[in-house]
Amino acid sequence: MKIRLVNGPNLALLGKREPSVYGQETLDDIVAAVRRRGETVGVTVEAFQSDIEGELVHYIGQSRGQADGLLVNAGAYTHTSIAIRDAITASGLPCIEVHLSNVHARESFRHHSFISSVCIGQILGFGGYSYQLAIDALVWHLRE
Ligand code: DQA
Repeated sequence: MKIRLVNGPNLALLGKREPSVYGQETLDDIVAAVRRRGETVGVTVEAFQSDIEGELVHYIGQSRGQADGLLVNAGAYTHTSIAIRDAITASGLPCIEVHLSNVHARESFRHHSFISSVCIGQILGFGGYSYQLAIDALVWHLRE
């Protein structure tokens, strides 16, 4: 089984960026931990990060036939991007929306997600551990 892990804008800055909100872990730390978790449950993880909306749309949209499921932290595009939502739908793959922070406990503009209604679920608020919970949830869903 193969999962695509997609991270959007500013997430390459994890570790330096607002550590009180997003924690001390870097994106490399998080990706490595997800890969390790994947190995223990027999899943390969392909990771992609971009700050550019069109690259994320392209990567997600081209995932049909390339992976069995998606984990997506679209960063701020979560709250703005119909194109990323449409790409998730176009992929035809089960997708879990991931956030490090509890967006519902933050500014009101973060309360709406354009992608949540095309995802099988959301996991948020647990820092880097959100991704561990998300891969377990996606694998559970795929094996159900
Ligand atoms: C985020 C939450 C978004 O609102 C924010 O724009 C991010 C990170 C998170 O993982 O908590 O860039 O997706």
